Amino acid sequence: QASPLYAQCQGCHQPTGAGIPGVFPPLAGHIPEILAAKGGREFLIQVLLYGLQGQITVKGTKYQGMMPAYAQLKDEEIAALLNHISTQWGNKFPAGQQPFTAAEVKAQRAKPMTAAQVLEARNKLGLK
Ligand code: HEM
Repeated sequence: QASPLYAQCQGCHQPTGAGIPGVFPPLAGHIPEILAAKGGREFLIQVLLYGLQGQITVKGTKYQGMMPAYAQLKDEEIAALLNHISTQWGNKFPAGQQPFTAAEVKAQRAKPMTAAQVLEARNKLGLK
């Protein structure tokens, strides 16, 4: 399903959500494991609002890049983007989780972070 909002992501994460191994991490098959982690929803909102910088490992492959911040988007747009990447390419919300709301985005916008602090938040999720 095409999404005008996701158009600004697909140059890196690719239309298929598969990313580019070692350069841009995949979103397909990966967002659900972030959603399932305690603090995962908040982390995903933080990545969009504040970016992410530093080394991460996704499914055994290392990435050391820069995810740009998209704070210029409206709360509703960030919620819509996160709902898009949570439900495309076979991705699904974990049982019992509802779609992202603008109110959830607003709550994270009230707590500014650096991209390096977003990495620290990621490190606490306990992702494999
Ligand atoms: C990381 C989504 C645009 C490059 C991430 C992550 C998400 C995400 C959820 C975190 C993955 C994880 O922690 O495992 C999006 C969305 C975008 C977007 C929804 C559009 C609004 C872009 C663009 C680029 C990019 C345009 C390239 C210029 C990266 C990189 C990382 C990343 C390099 C890993 C950062 C690191 O190594 O620390 N993205 N992204 N993203 N994204 Fe994006």
